[in-house]
Amino acid sequence: MMAAAGSGSGSDPGTGASSDLRVGCIGAGKMARGVLGGLIISGKVPVQNITVSAPSDSNLQQFRAQGCSTTHSNISVVQQCDLLFLATKPPLIPQVLVEISSAITARHVIVSMAAGVSLRTLEKVEMLPGAPGVRILRMAPNLPCVVQAGAVVFSRGSCAGQEEAEMLQDLLSGCGTCEEMPEAFIDVHTGLSGSGVAYVYLFAEALVDGAVKMGMPSAVSSRIAAQTLLGAAKMMLETGEHPAKLRSDVCTPGGTTIHALHELEKGGLRAAVMNAVEAATKRAREMDKS
Ligand SMILES: NC(=O)c1ccc[n+]([C@@H]2O[C@H](COP(=O)([O-])OP(=O)(O)OC[C@H]3O[C@@H](n4cnc5c(N)ncnc54)[C@H](OP(=O)(O)O)[C@@H]3O)[C@@H](O)[C@H]2O)c1
Repeated sequence: MMAAAGSGSGSDPGTGASSDLRVGCIGAGKMARGVLGGLIISGKVPVQNITVSAPSDSNLQQFRAQGCSTTHSNISVVQQCDLLFLATKPPLIPQVLVEISSAITARHVIVSMAAGVSLRTLEKVEMLPGAPGVRILRMAPNLPCVVQAGAVVFSRGSCAGQEEAEMLQDLLSGCGTCEEMPEAFIDVHTGLSGSGVAYVYLFAEALVDGAVKMGMPSAVSSRIAAQTLLGAAKMMLETGEHPAKLRSDVCTPGGTTIHALHELEKGGLRAAVMNAVEAATKRAREMDKS
């Protein structure tokens, strides 16, 4: 049985880091960087306990610079580690599982971060023929894990229990917030948050463009737009209020904000964003079928 982070003989009481747990990541791209970065910066896992694989060196070198071990062999990651993150693009997940299947043993826990790949697909016997009963969990991260401000959710597969869920929750709390959810919400999380980060950037870009049009320099507009989003998000989290209440608090009768909001409603912003969440969620669901 693997050592859970923050518990057991090998854990550092100051950081919760487990000196026993060896963490592997198959795939070394943006999301691997975000999730492993959270584990490293929060001290949840010592950097020397992390091994990352990818076919090319282009992303691996950043992990090497941080002190992680790197390899081009996915099998080698499996052999060296207990907890395995799958961080390749979703269509590659089946072939990666087939490739590593023979090296998976009872000590391994697999955590997929691939959008739109269901636990049912991950647990298909034909993908892990050498490893029936393996403990698998599915997580949905978002890019702000890179700055430890991610919104991560996860679900456990049929063989993963409370111990694995608690260990993952503890580790991923180093990436931002982390909640266990029914799997039905995971694709919705992709539509809301995984992809949602991009909608927010699009909105931020439009704010900046508007300010530039009104004469403010781009760099200043960009800083103020970012702080506006951060402050609005912080108020939502700290007050626990519904955004509709917070929005109405900004609207003075006959004032600037209500005039601006009328323009956003005329432009269909609310319907467009709802459609975007729906489209991304449906796309994630379709990806599993294909
Ligand atoms: N990016 C996001 O905002 C986000 C949000 C939620 C979920 N996700 C999920 O996170 C996963 C990774 O996304 P990403 O954005 O990090 O992708 P990415 O930046 O394109 O990284 C993909 C990584 O997979 C590696 N790779 C390709 N084939 C491989 C193989 N056969 N074995 C091992 N590694 C292989 C690539 O290697 P090279 O370094 O050699 O190219 C690269 O390091 C995806 O499944 C995605 O659905 C991403």
